[in-house]
Amino acid sequence: ASKYRPFAPVRLADRRWPDAVITQAPIWCSVDLRDGNQALIEPMDIARKMRMFEQLVKIGFKEIEVGFPSASQVEFDFVRKLIEEDRIPDDVTIQVLTQAREPLIRRTFEALAGAPRAIVHLYNATAPVMRRVVLGMSEDEIVELAVSHAQMFQDLAARQPATDWTFEYSPEMYSDTELAFSKRVIDAVTAVWQPTPEKKCIINLPTTVEHSTPNIFADMVEWTHRHIARRDSVVLSVHPHNDRGTGTATAELALMAGADRLEGCLFGNGERTGNLDVVNVALNMYTQGVHPGLDFSDIDAIRSTVEYCNQLPVHPRHPYVGDLVYTSFSGSHQDAIKKAFAERKEGDIWDMPYLPIDPKDLGRSYEAVIRVNSQSGKGGIAYLLESEYGLQLPRRLQIEFSAAVQREMDASGKELTAADLWALFQSEYQIQ
Ligand code: KIV
Ligand code: ZN
Repeated sequence: ASKYRPFAPVRLADRRWPDAVITQAPIWCSVDLRDGNQALIEPMDIARKMRMFEQLVKIGFKEIEVGFPSASQVEFDFVRKLIEEDRIPDDVTIQVLTQAREPLIRRTFEALAGAPRAIVHLYNATAPVMRRVVLGMSEDEIVELAVSHAQMFQDLAARQPATDWTFEYSPEMYSDTELAFSKRVIDAVTAVWQPTPEKKCIINLPTTVEHSTPNIFADMVEWTHRHIARRDSVVLSVHPHNDRGTGTATAELALMAGADRLEGCLFGNGERTGNLDVVNVALNMYTQGVHPGLDFSDIDAIRSTVEYCNQLPVHPRHPYVGDLVYTSFSGSHQDAIKKAFAERKEGDIWDMPYLPIDPKDLGRSYEAVIRVNSQSGKGGIAYLLESEYGLQLPRRLQIEFSAAVQREMDASGKELTAADLWALFQSEYQIQ
């Protein structure tokens, strides 16, 4: 017996997702500067926030949640700086988050004074555990909380007519909320905001904490997609976290289930095990022939900016960007890669064993692809000596020399670089 409640899946007779594929990029929204930032050991100061903002703009994000301006002076000042120093490109919209509390909402609109465009993001918890334990509110009271604060958005926005406002609502813990109740709250909010197909609002569905397998969440998204009122006037967004390590799958299935927009962070920074890793999802699309509309062609530069801003390292095995992800130590893998490279012609479809993406598309070189340690064979050794030193070893010599290399590595247990191999070769064969 488990102490955890099993999920009751939604049953749909004609479900869409199992044979669906992703054919177009979603609207991306970066929440690095808000959700990502609030999870850092040392939250970013204004200079680091600005550097991250500029990096996000360079990647191509058109919607960027820049902070929670009522939460701290730094957050408020950063929004003011972006607006007063005219740092927001014309095709980018900043987004800010606020809880459904009057003083916080007033402060949020104050922070946005003079913004050309803004997405203001309202949230309140809707899940039973939050209603009962944290908020002590009934279902009716939760609906009233959302509606009254949604109304406050309307009133405050009307006082700043020069700004082009978009409103966003998140039922926090949507993935733990009864579907009928989340629909009730969402419909009540959109009834206040009265979005139209020309001027949509955003309804954002978070897995605030991931509890279910991704297909269960996707079924919930599909149900919401089919049942909410004014669907044609709503941008349906999802905001996965990664508690079960399935944030990427959750996001991909949610897109197949009807979501239009994704919120996440670069390299999966964020609360606990992180937010959805937008790099992962974007590059998964890329490797399947769908351009994500984001530019990761210099992924190492992006990584170093993000590491600097977050003061957190990116794991060497992180998909697409880790130091080791284009490297093969294994002899049989090296052999296959070498053969495929030898056969490959310019313009060919990428069909490379053990390399799901061409490292060059992300600004990486082929140098790190083949490296030599005790797991490698003669092929890798010969490849490095030839590519770095122009030395073509006949097959018999490859076999002989690889035995010497193996002895060396058995003794040291360490990787040997091309320079180490060349030095060993010179000493083995007494070349001056
Ligand atoms: O994870 C979450 O639920 C959030 C909301 C505030 C959108 O970050
Ligand atoms: Zn979140």
